[in-house]
Amino acid sequence: MTPSLRVMVGNLAAPPAGTRRTGASVARVTAQRTSDPLGDPTAGPYAGNDTAGLPWPSGPRDAPLPAADPTQLPAAVLDAFGAARGFLPPDEAFALLGAARTALAAHPELPLLEIGTYCGRSSLLVGAAAAAAGTTLFTVDHHRGSEENQPGWQWHDAELVDPVTGRLETLVPLRRSLHAAGLDAAVIPVVGDSGVVGRWWTTPVGFLFLDGNHTEEIAQRDYALFAPHVAAGGYLAVHDCYPEPAEGGRPPWNVYLRARADGWEPVGQHRSLRLLRRGADVRPPAPPAR
Ligand SMILES: C[S@@+](CC[C@H](N)C(=O)[O-])C[C@H]1O[C@@H](n2cnc3c(N)ncnc32)[C@H](O)[C@@H]1O
Repeated sequence: MTPSLRVMVGNLAAPPAGTRRTGASVARVTAQRTSDPLGDPTAGPYAGNDTAGLPWPSGPRDAPLPAADPTQLPAAVLDAFGAARGFLPPDEAFALLGAARTALAAHPELPLLEIGTYCGRSSLLVGAAAAAAGTTLFTVDHHRGSEENQPGWQWHDAELVDPVTGRLETLVPLRRSLHAAGLDAAVIPVVGDSGVVGRWWTTPVGFLFLDGNHTEEIAQRDYALFAPHVAAGGYLAVHDCYPEPAEGGRPPWNVYLRARADGWEPVGQHRSLRLLRRGADVRPPAPPAR
């Protein structure tokens, strides 16, 4: 049997005083095993591209970014994706898959890089695209969760707390998912703070997906550290872009605007996912202070 995905939409509750939130609405995706891997694409929550039935952010839009056909994925990848914990809705995940394939067509010789792994929903699809192209996805996370994943926040998942350390632990579920999907060789988890990894990262990449910490300081730092390593003609995807403050947190949108100001060309959008292409004349961002 193969899984289908049940998508539930929830509004973020007010976070504890003094804390930040990253979005006005988030899709929580849980796995439900049925005989249909993706549900009926013409009906219900999977109709068209907007499979979660979630609103598109208002404000300026880029061209539509078509979702890739997920039926081209190996069943083991779809099974693992359906079972992985996380908040990335299927329609955005499949648009991300399409973006990764676009980047791989431009730079099949280069690896791909993701900042923000969590339990691997995005890594499974981008990793499957990398595997099919014979290259590698590196995915960076300290695996302790962001602010909104900590106890007391709405997006805390108590089942992810390691009873030994008492800390959130998403590396073990990630490794199980990658193993189940047959992606151990194609997806390389890089475990550590993105600021530390970024200071030492030197490898050119054809695709960068920014989905890590959503505070202004760290989102900007991730962009400044990793975007310069995207090769000319390569692609940058930014998740959780909300032009209107009432709809979601500002940092990813500010990163998108900064990339545009630096000369990255907008390619397309699928809901909160934006894709940009690096032309030859992109300005390198100033490195962040150490
Ligand atoms: C939005 S989640 C990533 C979701 C993932 N892309 C998916 O598809 O499920 C953000 C992740 O960023 C990680 N993170 C937050 N701050 C970080 C930092 N400074 N360095 C490395 N990872 C960080 C968190 O641990 C969390 O797993």
